[in-house]
Amino acid sequence: MNSKIFKKFPVLETERIIIRQMLKTDVNVVFDFNTCQDSLEFIIRKPFKTIDEAKDKLSFFLSGIENKTAFWWVFTLKETGEDIGYGGLFDISTENNKAEIGYGLIKKYWNKGYMSEIINAIIKFGISDAELHKIYGAVISGNQASIKLLEKNNFKKEAHLTEHSFINGNYKDETIYSLINN
Ligand SMILES: CC(C)(COP(=O)(O)OP(=O)(O)OC[C@H]1O[C@@H](n2cnc3c(N)ncnc32)[C@H](O)[C@@H]1OP(=O)(O)O)[C@@H](O)C(=O)NCCC(=O)NCCS
Repeated sequence: MNSKIFKKFPVLETERIIIRQMLKTDVNVVFDFNTCQDSLEFIIRKPFKTIDEAKDKLSFFLSGIENKTAFWWVFTLKETGEDIGYGGLFDISTENNKAEIGYGLIKKYWNKGYMSEIINAIIKFGISDAELHKIYGAVISGNQASIKLLEKNNFKKEAHLTEHSFINGNYKDETIYSLINN
């Protein structure tokens, strides 16, 4: 992997969105996403009730940036300046040249093609600039939007984990999708 990539935090851009570094002032977007039950349907987490929970989560993200084990970005609409969600490449392993991908948008911004733009830019960055050999994502069964996004970007189903996560009282299957840079 290209270690120079950590020298300056990368800002990415699509037609409608700036994909910018997550900052310690970004507690609101973390809170807004994590208080919505629908957004968390396929994420192993109970909705946040307090802003302190969002602050703790944000601190965790920022420590990943600090330790150079993650790039966490906030997605900002160019036209209005609204922060619509966040995501990143995390658990970066420089030894194995791989990283996991994760993302989420606040519900009112779903189904407008925003994530399709964003994921494409993040993958391009991960493969072409960061020179990762592998990017992978874990998807809880039923998360059709996420599966579509990954498959559209040439991720292949790699492993199916049966009853792997306990969500809201039910065991859910999880599937690992991956993109190998050959
Ligand atoms: C997953 C998520 C980021 C998708 O964002 P989005 O901006 O709505 O995605 P897009 O509008 O770019 O749509 C991507 C594709 O999925 C399809 N899609 C969207 N929602 C869908 C659904 N519920 N069922 C089936 N397909 C769906 C779209 O039609 C589109 O397909 P197309 O390119 O063939 O038209 C958003 O739903 C979200 O934040 N979900 C909650 C968090 C989450 O689950 N994160 C992923 C964890 S693995």
